[in-house]
Amino acid sequence: MWKRRPSKIVVFLLGLAPLFWLGWRAYNGRLTANPIEFITHYTGDWTLRFIVFSLCITPLRKILNRPKLIQYRRMVGLFAFFYASLHFLTYLVIDKFFDWNEILTDIGKRTYITVGFAALLMLTALAVTSTAGWIRRLGGKRWQRLHQLVYVAIVAGVIHYYWSVKSDVRDPIFYGFLAALLLGYRVWAARAGRRKTLPVPARKAPEPVSR
Ligand code: HEM
Repeated sequence: MWKRRPSKIVVFLLGLAPLFWLGWRAYNGRLTANPIEFITHYTGDWTLRFIVFSLCITPLRKILNRPKLIQYRRMVGLFAFFYASLHFLTYLVIDKFFDWNEILTDIGKRTYITVGFAALLMLTALAVTSTAGWIRRLGGKRWQRLHQLVYVAIVAGVIHYYWSVKSDVRDPIFYGFLAALLLGYRVWAARAGRRKTLPVPARKAPEPVSR
């Protein structure tokens, strides 16, 4: 499939670039004095960025009149899930060392972890059902409705970020602004679409033209 679409290979390599960069920094011993914190933040940031990138594709298709951009949406979304999994694995394996008691307590008691975990579950559902087989099984309409979960996931991701930072909230607010813009676009596009499909009222008979 990719033989015919070298651009997909480019997008794939771009998606892996943050991971290679992280590996390069690790190899050169540049993961700062607190590598666990660095990796957690790095993978969290890239998860949110890939959710944003995936939500940019639909507006860009329309604005740039490039319908073919849709072919990259699934891959970009899967990269969001990939970095979310790395983010969670950092927490699970390196930070908590599989201490399930502590992890479950965290998920239940620390609200930013609860919200992050909910976002991860949503991304998991989206990744699992992203195949052509699931589109067929669910039917286009139901599949589309399910995939609107990404809107909830980005909001949950932003809240998780906002609640996780201790003082400087500028970055989570910036992501909140991007999320509002991307979701606002959807609301606007849905309203515009509905207006277009409204039945045209029957034309009134023309007023008699006065002589
Ligand atoms: C879609 C899901 C998620 C997204 C988008 C996300 C995103 C983020 C972001 C952007 C940060 C802050 C990075 C920074 O400060 O530069 C962060 C921090 C963090 N996240 Fe997540 N996250 C998600 C899920 C999770 C899950 C499931 C867990 C664990 C159960 C988790 C645990 C953490 C921890 C421990 C921190 C560091 C908080 C601190 O600095 O004390 N995240 N996450």
